[in-house]
Amino acid sequence: MLRVGYYQFRPAFGQKKKNLLRVINTLHAVTADLIVLPELPFTGYYFQDRQETMLLSEEPSGSTIVEALTALCKERNCYVVTGFAERALDKCFNSALLIGPEGLLHTYRKLHLFSEEKNWFDPGDNALQVQTVRGAKIGMMVCFDWIFPEVMRTLALQGAQVICHPSNLVMNYCQDAMRTRCIENMVYAVTANRFGSDKRPHGELKFTGQSQITAPKGVVIHKALPQRETLFITEIDPDTALNKKITALNDLHKDRRPDFYTL
Ligand code: ACM
Repeated sequence: MLRVGYYQFRPAFGQKKKNLLRVINTLHAVTADLIVLPELPFTGYYFQDRQETMLLSEEPSGSTIVEALTALCKERNCYVVTGFAERALDKCFNSALLIGPEGLLHTYRKLHLFSEEKNWFDPGDNALQVQTVRGAKIGMMVCFDWIFPEVMRTLALQGAQVICHPSNLVMNYCQDAMRTRCIENMVYAVTANRFGSDKRPHGELKFTGQSQITAPKGVVIHKALPQRETLFITEIDPDTALNKKITALNDLHKDRRPDFYTL
């Protein structure tokens, strides 16, 4: 069994220290194996331009955020998947980090940039890869990646049992779609969204909350309210996601016909 959960909150744009303190203070008494945080939970989301994104982003090595989360994971004996504005030389990625008591274990760089993110970030340049946490295979994707079924399919074909999904959703399609993604791949998913808004000189962007934990048959284990701070932890059995049979005669992986798929 695996104790998984998420923290839905309202980051303050550009206030990295304040946001980090909030996360650490909230998680410091939590008992869990794996906690998922939203996309870009420390910087906020609605950047003005690429220059501002470069200014607020950090390299994971030497990052106070990564150090603080590693210390938290050591203290609570847990793992965290978090969004992270990642700087790498002259590039900048909208990333998800897997952090454990050992430190930073894996970096996923968002492959499918949403709307104006194309002005702020570079598109991800690394392969999708599953990681093992407490014996369970986990896959990471970030927000808008949900609309490309190929992402979860690729991770599921690699054996992912739990998809960790840091998000900053601004539309209302994802939660329903995640039920389908979880049926078609027979996996769990933890979609950690933020709420509130980023009010900036160039406009205001509102986020929709409703973080969701979805089970292999599309069952919604839990869905948060749209505009409420929520820390939710539950116990799941990742082995349920090993069974890809949809009927006695149909296996979601073995019955695929890739010879006939052109995309
Ligand atoms: C999104 O990808 N943040 C909508």
